[in-house]
Amino acid sequence: MARVLKINHVGIAVADTANARSFWESALGLTVDHVEDVLAQKSQVTFIPVSESEIELVTPLAAESSVAKFLADRGPGMHHLCLQVDDIAGMLDDLKKKNIRLINETPLQEPGRLMAFVHPKSTGGVLVELYQVLQDSH
Ligand code: CO
Repeated sequence: MARVLKINHVGIAVADTANARSFWESALGLTVDHVEDVLAQKSQVTFIPVSESEIELVTPLAAESSVAKFLADRGPGMHHLCLQVDDIAGMLDDLKKKNIRLINETPLQEPGRLMAFVHPKSTGGVLVELYQVLQDSH
């Protein structure tokens, strides 16, 4: 059976990345590792490592992106929790057998990782992202 390894990152929806970065960088003294456009999600993500995990600032690149809808409905704030798993395809199969509602039935490939979202209706209201890391970098 597939296993959860750790909390990979916590995603935070922001409308203005530069403004949001000032808290994490200037106030808390953390350092941005990299910024990445995730075209499949029509969003841009900014990764800020915190020891073994990361903060991920997520901002929309298009009005129809799901994070744009989230910002319009709820405003900025916690958006998703990402759990790193050892076998994402196996985990998705396990979850399907348990009647857990998935947003992505099969893993999506992003640089260095496979990912899929689990629907908040099945998780107690939290958007859960699953990652399988394919190499050491992100
Ligand atoms: Co994420």
